[in-house]
Amino acid sequence: MKVLDAEFVKGFVRLCSDGFAQGWHERNGGNLSYRIKEDEIESVREELIGEDAPAPDGCQDYGVWKEIGTQVPFLAGEYFLVTGSGKYFRNVELDTAANVCIIKVDETGEKYKILWGLNKGGRPTSELPSHLMNLEVCKKRNPEIRVVYHCHPANIIALTYVLPLDGEVFTREIFEMATECPVVFPQGIGVVPWMVPGGRDIAVATSKIMAAQDFAVWAHHGAFACGTDFDITFGLMHTVEKAAEVLVKVRSMTDRKRQTIQPDEFRALNEPFGIHVDERFLYEKKSDIIGER
Ligand code: 13P
Ligand code: ZN
Repeated sequence: MKVLDAEFVKGFVRLCSDGFAQGWHERNGGNLSYRIKEDEIESVREELIGEDAPAPDGCQDYGVWKEIGTQVPFLAGEYFLVTGSGKYFRNVELDTAANVCIIKVDETGEKYKILWGLNKGGRPTSELPSHLMNLEVCKKRNPEIRVVYHCHPANIIALTYVLPLDGEVFTREIFEMATECPVVFPQGIGVVPWMVPGGRDIAVATSKIMAAQDFAVWAHHGAFACGTDFDITFGLMHTVEKAAEVLVKVRSMTDRKRQTIQPDEFRALNEPFGIHVDERFLYEKKSDIIGER
């Protein structure tokens, strides 16, 4: 089968278009990765350069092992579909083969090589260390998690200027903005303080959160979500960003709430929805000022 005909590629492309339509991908902002299943990679092997096909002209980097910039030994030998660095999400649907690539991680978990895509040149996203380290910790806690998505949603970013950069407070304030939030992500969200993007340090900080939670905010930058498929991952980002939008509206009217969802009301969701809202987020508030504990 051709890569572009594979269902996992179509799902990947659709997420890119949906994310662009939401306004979360100005310019080359954001990146996406997918840990490809064994049967999926077998189905497209005829097109993998350096395995069964020759490299296109001008793509001399094809098949050359390159440093990831971190170590992901638990992902050794696996294949990934990832967006290219500097590529625009807007263009993924228009010319998929020029904007995304399939890579393979080597047996040490320290190098990757391109096997398909980026056919007009380029390299995988600069956030490859974060994507692979997140996919690694996610695979350890749930082998079904395959998608890691990074974007720049305006309301989540706006909140990082007014809420304390504390995962418990951030989660609680987001939870109060929509009853579906604790149902969709009862384990809450984490916050990474501002850090230089594109390297190992921010990847380590983010993967510490992703080891237990599906969502990490990058202060003054954007957010990362993970999930078992494209719909669930995109849906999680959409849910958090929608709640963040409500909070931005509320905070724009007032610095305090007249009424809100109370800790015992969150606890009442556990049984009917088969969830366990982490008690860390259900502290008794001493203040009605938004963002104070
Ligand atoms: P890339 O174009 O390298 O994927 O970077 C975009 C981005 O959002 C960096 O955080
Ligand atoms: Zn970014």
